[in-house]
Amino acid sequence: MATTLGPARPVPRSASAPPDDLRAVMRLFPTGVTVLSSGRGDRAAAMTANSFVSISLDPPRVLVSVMKSSRTYPAIDSSGELQVHLLSDRQGDVARLFASRDKPFGRDLEGHFTTDGEGSHPYLPGALASLGCRIEERFPGGDPTLFLARVEHVRPGLAVNMS
Ligand SMILES: Cc1cc2nc3c(=O)[nH]c(=O)nc-3n(C[C@H](O)[C@H](O)[C@H](O)COP(=O)(O)O)c2cc1C
Repeated sequence: MATTLGPARPVPRSASAPPDDLRAVMRLFPTGVTVLSSGRGDRAAAMTANSFVSISLDPPRVLVSVMKSSRTYPAIDSSGELQVHLLSDRQGDVARLFASRDKPFGRDLEGHFTTDGEGSHPYLPGALASLGCRIEERFPGGDPTLFLARVEHVRPGLAVNMS
């Protein structure tokens, strides 16, 4: 039997779920966790983020949502560069470290990241992979900005078989 829908009920345009309700249910929804890094020298910054989404493979694009109040935001915004480090399930301590306010910043970050040499983007040892990205577009999202970035380089971690 066909279902008959009643007249559409108007949805109040200003409806907003309480943040605590949303936080409580989003906690139940597992996501991948990444560390975002950007900037160099004194301006280098890194933070934990789970807003990472792979948008398309061709062109290779990803999206992240970064709070404007974070210290990592100005590093990404001013450099136009972003590295996304995909954490493994053994890197809970790394996720906690880079979500904390007293984490390393600027030159103190150097010991946490490494490179393959001149021209290589920094990568996080132990991560599943690190993506070297360039920001292509910024979308206003209220407290955060959504950065759409082109993936310029994929560096797989040692445990990842690319074949
Ligand atoms: C699992 C997890 C995921 C997070 N995801 C995001 C995110 O996607 N975007 C964001 O702006 N903050 C996110 N945060 C919060 C930042 O990691 C946190 O605010 C951090 O302290 C910001 O650091 P900064 O101010 O030194 O840049 C997340 C935190 C956790 C624990």
